[in-house]
Amino acid sequence: MNILVLGSGGREHAFAWKLAQSPLCDALFVAPGNAGTAQLANNLAVAYNDFEAVATAIRQHTIDLLIVGPEEPLVKGIVNFLRRQPDLAQLRIVGPDEAGAQLEGSKDFSKGFMLRHGIPTAASRTFTVETLQEGLRYLDEHSLPVVLKADGLAAGKGVVIAETVADAQATLRDMLDGRKFGDAGNKVVVEQFLRGIELSVFVLTDGVNYKILPEAKDYKRIGEADTGPNTGGMGAVSPVVFANENFLRKVEEKVVKPTLAGLQQDGIRYQGFIFIGLMNVKGEPYVIEYNARMGDPETEVVLPRVQNDFAELMIATADGELDKVALQVSSQTAVTTVVVSNGYPDVYEKGKIITDLERLEDVTAFHAGTIAQNERVLTNGGRVLALTALANSLENAVRKSQEAARTVQFDGKQYRKDIGLDLIRYQD
Ligand code: AMP
Ligand code: GLY
Repeated sequence: MNILVLGSGGREHAFAWKLAQSPLCDALFVAPGNAGTAQLANNLAVAYNDFEAVATAIRQHTIDLLIVGPEEPLVKGIVNFLRRQPDLAQLRIVGPDEAGAQLEGSKDFSKGFMLRHGIPTAASRTFTVETLQEGLRYLDEHSLPVVLKADGLAAGKGVVIAETVADAQATLRDMLDGRKFGDAGNKVVVEQFLRGIELSVFVLTDGVNYKILPEAKDYKRIGEADTGPNTGGMGAVSPVVFANENFLRKVEEKVVKPTLAGLQQDGIRYQGFIFIGLMNVKGEPYVIEYNARMGDPETEVVLPRVQNDFAELMIATADGELDKVALQVSSQTAVTTVVVSNGYPDVYEKGKIITDLERLEDVTAFHAGTIAQNERVLTNGGRVLALTALANSLENAVRKSQEAARTVQFDGKQYRKDIGLDLIRYQD
């Protein structure tokens, strides 16, 4: 089978790494990929938002199975586009169509979806520029802190947690009137702040059957002890100690099953990953957000624990046969530390030479933002590498992942030194 993965980050490198281990995979392609995927697959110089170019690559390389990594092409309807090509009728695709991707593409849609299907989430209201005055008055009365979310995709920057009414009102004005997030801010969801511990649960569904993949905790802020601006993710851990069996059962009953039933009731055939961002509020799960894809860097700790043939799982998803596969998960702990460029998540430089990759031991180095040039590997993004260790204890996995982050070198290297430490303390 010829397989194509769309994307260029650590998530896609992890997909490729897992697919390359499958005897079902004859030829593996990543578009556009990075220096890490180039070591196990053929990188194609195709931008994933250029649907025509993706279709051409699929024809040229007789791709049988396509896995879409990032949200943008999904939300823009790449699956619908490919389904309209008569000669690609046999193509298997993992990733939801435009309607399913609305779970991530529109916060207003996803709040409406949760309300309609009785899925626990923070109370909220949506405002537009026409209802701005009403929104400002609503904020006058709202409990603090209050959460404001731009409706559309905003590269992880569209959520503001305001501590004062004045800040909240200024943010609402900026988003609706000032068009701070462009069209993504045409609607703004104002919601109640949930106090609790956050974790992410990943569901793989073929539209009817589903598998709950290992859960993970992400470290979103740039600074240690969760300080400073939000990033795409500075590290991740799986499993998550506070996600005990009882809590995960509630997640399945109160969130996963109603989500899948809701999609069916709404006439959406969802085939792909659903990433559910959850808040554990005194032992009860509340949905913070849905994403229509896997998380990054969560994938880099989830996949190393999945023991199944990944190509087989992906085929079963596309064929509607996930009920025929038994998920096998390692009980080991996976920890990833993300090494980033100086300045990230704001302005940063690219093109720095990465050295000492060959000295890494006992970790898998997933490339996030790298490019190969004349035998050398250069930085090519804010997040550069995700260094994953798998071990019998959380402590050992943390130690190995951190040691790898110390070992690898490039000008301006930064990483968090506290990945997983809160969970070690939680255990004790
Ligand atoms: P998002 O960009 O949607 O992932 O949101 C960014 C972060 O904002 C989440 O990971 C949470 O930490 C936080 N957040 C979003 N909604 C809420 C909420 N209702 N209550 C508390 N924190 C929230
Ligand atoms: N790490 C968070 C995300 O992938 O959205």
